Order: sequence, then structure tokens, then C-alpha cells
Amino acid sequence: MSKSNLEWQQDSTQNQKPPLSLQNVYVNYGTRKGNVQAVRGVTLDLYAGESLALIGESGSGKTTLGLSIVRLLASTAKVEPGTIIYRRDQREVDVLKLSTSELRQFRWRDCAMVFQSALNAFNPVLRVWDQVLDTAQAHGWSDRTAVRERFLDLLKFVQLDPTRVINAYPHELSGGMRQRTLLAISLLLEPQILILDEPTTALDILTQRTIIGLLRRLKEEQHFTMIFISHDLAIAAELADRVATMYAGRIVEIGKTYDLFYQPRHPYTLGLIRAVPTVLGGFEELFSIPGSPPDLVNLPSGCKFHPRCSFATDKCKQQEPELEEVGERHFTACWHWQDVEKELELHPIRRGAAKHDALAQTTVEVR
Ligand SMILES: Nc1ncnc2c1ncn2[C@@H]1O[C@H](COP(=O)(O)OP(=O)(O)OP(=O)(O)O)[C@@H](O)[C@H]1O
Ligand code: SF4
Ligand SMILES: [Mg+2]
Repeated sequence: MSKSNLEWQQDSTQNQKPPLSLQNVYVNYGTRKGNVQAVRGVTLDLYAGESLALIGESGSGKTTLGLSIVRLLASTAKVEPGTIIYRRDQREVDVLKLSTSELRQFRWRDCAMVFQSALNAFNPVLRVWDQVLDTAQAHGWSDRTAVRERFLDLLKFVQLDPTRVINAYPHELSGGMRQRTLLAISLLLEPQILILDEPTTALDILTQRTIIGLLRRLKEEQHFTMIFISHDLAIAAELADRVATMYAGRIVEIGKTYDLFYQPRHPYTLGLIRAVPTVLGGFEELFSIPGSPPDLVNLPSGCKFHPRCSFATDKCKQQEPELEEVGERHFTACWHWQDVEKELELHPIRRGAAKHDALAQTTVEVR
């Protein structure tokens, strides 16, 4: 019998190793224009029971990083060097070294991913139930009645009409229903880790709230270990224990949610946060990050953010900084993080008056 997520969380507090450890992971896509350096040297531990948000502009490598963990990258992608260590019970494996059959077992049962586009994740000619049964049988679960009962329960959990959805074809479901159905399928085999890529993008505000509510229940009641990828800082503020900012394929800052949002030490994170309107501050105070993300085939020298950074110096143009500890479990990759600290002493980030703070009250996307 495998451990529940709560037991994993308890283990982690007893200094158990994290279920997922990425060490120096690089992903390159081979294209006619050259090598797209989509992920560059990511090192990251994901602890049991924690939810980690990945934020950053479009093209910063968030989805690529998620796909590399479940090994579902395009065939043109090369993941090297690096290791992706997954741990469960006494087992410890490098996901990058799993065979095809081991990978099939790993996906869904150990680590499930809900994709950015829910429609693409379904086979359009199969009813939902057939897809669920295929997934269960591929993992050696042949008791149809038990699978059906579990899936009907999960459909109730995601607040869908079970009998309607189970017999439907994917195109008969709305975007929000598909996203929730996919969430139910991803929970079928009780994975230890759930990766959610933009779980609420392109959904109306009420459906977004439903999905956020479900994710909150997964986090608070079932202590799921989750990575969720989002442009939406409000969702990150609401659901994450820790937040990582990605820029040009790198994690440039990572820390506890409060620290990252109210005491960022990287100019890029600061720019993302100041680009979000607060409840108290008006749109007139909004700030935008000049320029656009770099070409990942021809990256700038030194710190990849230097062409857009108001704190940049000559050193930044020449040398790329590594992550450095700047507070408790708070790391940033910036030569001049102390200048960001001083700037925030002069112009602190305003806090909202509402329950989950200003960030959690907005749904503005940062693209
Ligand atoms: N199959 C592919 N072949 C070539 N380049 C790719 C491929 N998939 C992604 N890329 C490139 O890799 C970079 C990172 O893409 P990725 O989809 O990981 O970014 P993202 O942060 O998830 O962006 P978004 O927020 O728009 O979803 C981008 O420059 C993208 O164009
Ligand atoms: S290292 Fe320099 S360019 Fe890069 S974020 Fe820090 S100040 Fe800006
Ligand atoms: Mg993406």
C-alpha cells in the first residue's frame, strides 16, 4: 500500500528527502534556426505536500520544464546534462534513465501532468470512459467496476455531472469541463506529484474560481505535492507555498510566496509584481517591463535580463549570476539584489486590504 500525501508531508518534516530533485537540468530544442535553449541549468527540490508555482513570461521555459519531468518533450528536444531524481518509498530513480515501460508506469501513477491545452490531451474519437479505462488498464488496473466507481467519485469531486461526462466525447464538453475532467483523470491513480500547466487560462472567471477552489482542496485537505505553472500571479499567491520565477530558461528567483511577492530581490520578479494592479493602488501606478524576452537561440551575454534591467551594470553584461541565498529559503540570481532591497525600502510593494491580499484579488495575466 503506498503512502498518502499526508504521510509524505509528515515524512518531509522528519527530514526525509524530497520526492523530486532536479539537478542542473538543461533542455535544448534542435531547430533550423539553431538550438533553442529552453531550460538552462535548473536545480530544484520539490518537497512532499508543498505546492510550487512557476511564473514568468511566455517562452521562459515553464512548460518545457514540466514536460521534462514527465518525459513528454518533443522528439527534437535533448535533455542533458542533468538529473531528475524521483523518490517514493525506498525507491529512487533518475527519470531521465527510465525505460519506455518504466516511464509508462511512472506517468499518471507517480507523476501526472494536466496540460496547458486540455483538448489536445484527449483522443477526440474516444469517449471519456474509454480513455479512463485505457489509462487504468495500462497501469494494470483491470477491475472495470472499481475503476468506474473511483472515476465517478472523482468527477463528483471536480463538481461535474458524473453520468453525463463519463459517456461524453471530449468535443461535447466545454473548456472548463474538459479541464476538470482532465484533473479527475490525473487523480485516478493517486499520483504522488501533480503538475498543472496553466490550469485556468482561457476559462471564464467563474470556472476559474471553481478550479482554484478544487486545487485549494487538493492542497489543504489532501496535501498534494504540486507544481503549477501560471501567468496569473493571483493564482500563485493564492495556492503556492513557494514561487519560482523563470527567465530565459533559468530559475532566477525562488522563495516562499510571501517573500517573493513582498520582498523580491530580483529586478525581473519585481517587474512582474509591479505590473499587476493592486486593489488599493490604481492602474495609474502600473509599471511594465521594457523590451521583450530574449531570443533563446542567440541569448545575450552575461545576465540574460540585462538589456531590460534598470539595475544593470557592466558586470551584468559580462557575467551571468548564479542563485545566491538572500533570506530564509530565498534565493536570487542577481549581482545587485541589495539595490533591489534598497529600492523596496524606498518604494515598498503595497499590500491589499482584502483577505488574501491584493495579488490574490486580481486575475491579470502577465505575458
Ligand atoms: N517543440 C519545440 N520546438 C522548438 N522550440 C520549442 C518547442 N517547444 C517550445 N519551444 C520553445 O522553447 C521556449 C520555451 O517554451 P515553453 O513552452 O516551455 O515556454 P512557456 O514558459 O511555457 O511559455 P507560455 O507561457 O507561452 O506557455 C520558447 O522559446 C518556445 O518557442
Ligand atoms: S544581474 Fe544585473 S542585469 Fe541581471 S537582474 Fe541583476 S542587476 Fe539586472
Ligand atoms: Mg507554457
